[in-house]
Amino acid sequence: MNAVRVLLGVGGGIAAYKAADLVRRLRDHGAEVRVALTGNAARFVTPVTFQALSGEPVRTSLWDEAAEAAMGHIELARWATHVLIAPATADLIARLAHGHADDLLTTLALATQAPLTLAPAMNRVMWAHPATQANVALLQGRGVNFLGPDSGGQACGETGEGRMMEPAAIAQALLAGRHTTEPLLAGRRVLVTAGPTFEDLDPVRYLGNRSSGRMGFAIAEQARRLGAQVTLVAGPVNLPTPAGVARIDVRSAQQMHEAVFANIAGQHIYIGTAAVADFRPQQVATDKIKKEGDGGLTLELVQNPDILAQVAALPQRPFVVGFAAETTQVEGYARDKLLRKKLDLIAANRVGVEGCGFDAQRNALSVYWKDGGLEIPESGKPEVARRLLEIIAERLGASR
Ligand code: PMT
Repeated sequence: MNAVRVLLGVGGGIAAYKAADLVRRLRDHGAEVRVALTGNAARFVTPVTFQALSGEPVRTSLWDEAAEAAMGHIELARWATHVLIAPATADLIARLAHGHADDLLTTLALATQAPLTLAPAMNRVMWAHPATQANVALLQGRGVNFLGPDSGGQACGETGEGRMMEPAAIAQALLAGRHTTEPLLAGRRVLVTAGPTFEDLDPVRYLGNRSSGRMGFAIAEQARRLGAQVTLVAGPVNLPTPAGVARIDVRSAQQMHEAVFANIAGQHIYIGTAAVADFRPQQVATDKIKKEGDGGLTLELVQNPDILAQVAALPQRPFVVGFAAETTQVEGYARDKLLRKKLDLIAANRVGVEGCGFDAQRNALSVYWKDGGLEIPESGKPEVARRLLEIIAERLGASR
C-alpha cells in the first residue's frame, strides 16, 4: 500500500484546537502527518502540541534558517501526498484564492502538486458573505476540495453554518478518497423542492408546518457544487438562494405542484424535500373569518395532489427521491412509501429527536432503496446533503 503523507496546515482560528485531535485521527488511519502553523494559529495552540502528536518537527515560518538551508518548504511541498488546511479561515481562503505566497502555509499551497483540501471554520455571517463565497467558488473552479463547513453552535455564541467539521469526519472523508471534487453530478439536471407549504384559510390565516427549508436548500447547494444544473422550488422560507441555483418561490401545495410540473421535463433527478400539506381548506374565505358566538369552527379540508407520486408516475420519469418524516417504525413506514409511491429511493428522518430534522441545523437520515439501505449519521445539513447526493449518484449509476 502506498504511504499517505498529509501536510496539515493550521489556520489562525479558534477551531485550531480541533486540529490537534485531527492529527491523531489522521494517524489512526495510518497517515504520516507533518504540520505547518500560521503565526496566528501558533497563538491558539503551540507548535509543541503538534510536534508531540505528529512525532515530526513543526514548521511555523518561512524564515527558519535551519530548515530553509535545504529549501525546506519545497521539500515539504513535494513530500505531501495530500495537503489539508484545517481550520481554513476566511482570510486564508481569500489569500489562497488570490495566489498569495507571503507566509509558509500559502507558499506551500502554491508549491505543492498534491491535491489541496480545505476545512473552513468561521462565523456564519463571514461564511455566507458574498466575498467568501466568491473565493470558495474560485478555488473550487481550480480543483480545490472543500470538506464542510458544518452547521451548529459556534464559538462566537451564534448558531449556523461555518463550524469546522469534526476531526474524525475530516480524516475519514479525506482518507476514504472523498477529497476529490470530481463533479459527481456534472451534466445532470436536478429539481429539488424545499420548505413548507402554506394553505390559506382567509386573508390572514393559513395552515402550515415547521419546515424551515434548510434541508432542501442544502441539497440544492451541494448538488450545484457537485456540478448539477439545479432548479429549486421553494415554499415560504427565509433563506438566501444558493449560488448558481435557479429558484422558484411558491406558497401553496397547488402552486408547488404547478411549478414542479412546469419544470420537470428533462430533469434527471427529482428530490422531494418539501413538507407539502396533504390537505387544504376547501374554500379560502375572501374576508377574515369572524368568531361567532361561543361555538367552535369546523374546517372542511380537501386533499392536495401528491406531487411526489405524480412525478414517479410520469412515463419519462427522473430518478425519484422522496423524504419521510416519521416518529416511529421508521424503516417500515419509509419502505411502505417507497413501494406505494414507486420511488427509486427514500430518505427518512426521525422527527422528534432534539436538535435534528424539522427547523434544525442538523439531521440524520436512514436511506432505503428496493434491495438496500444506508445510514447517514447525524451531522450539519450540508454534510448530510452531500452524503445523500453521493448515494443518489451511486444508485443512479446502478439503475441506468
Ligand atoms: O425544512 P427543514 O426544517 O430543513 O426540515 C427538513 C424536513 C424534515 C422537512 C425534510 O427532511 C423532510 O422530511 N421532508 C418531508 C416531510 C414530509 O412532508 O414527509 P411526508 O411523509 O408528509 O411526505 C413524504 C414525501 O411525499 C415527501 O417527499 C414530500 O415532499 C412528498 N409529498 C407529500 C405530500 C404531497 N401532497 N406531495 C408530496 O410530494
